Amino acid sequence: MRSCGISTLRRLANIIYEAIDDIEGVYATADIPLPSLDAPFNPVDPTEALLQNPTVEGATLNIIAAAAQLSATVASPAVSAFNASHAFHISACLRAASEMNVVEVLREAGPDGLHANEIAAPSKTDPLLLARILRLLAIHNIFREVTPNVFANNRISSVLDKGKPSKVLFENPNERLTGTSGFAALLELCADHNMKGVAMLADTMLHPEERELGFNRAYRTTESFWDWLHRPENVYQMQRFDIGMRGTAATESADAIHKGFNWNGLSTGSVLVDVGGGTGHISLAIAQKNPGLQVVVQDLEDTIKDSKIFTTFTLPSQSEMPPCSCCGISCTTGRTSAWSGSFVICATAAQPTTKLVVVDRIPESAARVHDASEEAILGSARPSAPMPLLPNWGVGKAEVYYYDMTMHCILGGVERTLEHFVEVFAKGGWELVRVHHPEGWGESHIVGVPAGSTQDSV
Ligand SMILES: C[S@@+](CC[C@H](N)C(=O)[O-])C[C@H]1O[C@@H](n2cnc3c(N)ncnc32)[C@H](O)[C@@H]1O
Repeated sequence: MRSCGISTLRRLANIIYEAIDDIEGVYATADIPLPSLDAPFNPVDPTEALLQNPTVEGATLNIIAAAAQLSATVASPAVSAFNASHAFHISACLRAASEMNVVEVLREAGPDGLHANEIAAPSKTDPLLLARILRLLAIHNIFREVTPNVFANNRISSVLDKGKPSKVLFENPNERLTGTSGFAALLELCADHNMKGVAMLADTMLHPEERELGFNRAYRTTESFWDWLHRPENVYQMQRFDIGMRGTAATESADAIHKGFNWNGLSTGSVLVDVGGGTGHISLAIAQKNPGLQVVVQDLEDTIKDSKIFTTFTLPSQSEMPPCSCCGISCTTGRTSAWSGSFVICATAAQPTTKLVVVDRIPESAARVHDASEEAILGSARPSAPMPLLPNWGVGKAEVYYYDMTMHCILGGVERTLEHFVEVFAKGGWELVRVHHPEGWGESHIVGVPAGSTQDSV
């Protein structure tokens, strides 16, 4: 037994060594250095583009999965379980640092960093508390403690940079997220109402008779999340959500939306309706590359209003406007059911040539099993991680499993497995004919045609 455990450690370590060799090879060929964890992230630096190289991406995934499994194998199980039960501290501290605009204050301070007294001054917060928050994050490699109580940005903290002078952020607290990439907004909303809602998971399971979602229990409301979000007094949270949805792009390869379903294969003049398209960032990307399409973003009225603000920031000149229009109506009578576990997308209004493309994450089992539905559907099969890694790369692809719990606790929804998608498509009168898994993106393109239609799969 003992030698078996050691051989597993060696196999995990070898996966890491081999992955480092692969990364080294790519960077050596390009003759550029690997970005440092200690330096702020710079999206336009050519070193960053290399991270999307398929060899580097594959090696990175192996390192993340193997390093986590290696640590889990050797660490005290009690300590591992205790630390897991405290993961909420990271979330809470990250939101606190972001809300205090620490990242921007530290950007202005540069690589030498700033003492906690000075970091805390503009937000008039307790410097000792802020130092403790930043230290907790620094031990998780978010921020760097340069000398005791002096902190600087590092590669991870800097991705929360809202890109504005800190003075402007403190002067206009309600506008701090407007006109940003949306990534800070995304993290702040995840660490705010998502965390509070998910914290109620066990309570809702222990009291099923109350038929409450975690969100409802946390916020003591019977309203759906969308109705709550669109209350007049929650306008800041609603705008943060809309801005934050665009921030999801930061975790994905920029052109992944073009790498799956062939939008260009649709005939000129085809109408593409982006249902629940938010402020339209994905539709804009499709419309810009496929000017022959008529693209319509459909979402709730307030969100469509927000999309106008987004357009003003990102496309300053009218001549840059792609042929993309927005439509503010609810696609259901309420605001919840479209994304709930039991939703049915109805094909009755579809033409024989209509296609349904769902852009979504497809979770996979953490057990090494054979999935028969993957054989039946073109493009749906995905590679498995090498042994002894978890076949779905474990925490290397954690976000899909996080989204799944968020969907449940906030919306009563679910991230569907492929089998579940086949079922839900069939209920709505669609046949699931094709799946694309764009490289470097967590979201797949799941394509359906009206059941019985003779369309070629796309
Ligand atoms: C998770 S967000 C996704 C936004 C966008 N598709 C993206 O990927 O960034 C879901 C969107 O559905 C919208 N929504 C919720 N209920 C809706 C309804 N009944 N009709 C139309 N849109 C709705 C929300 O306003 C929100 O923009």
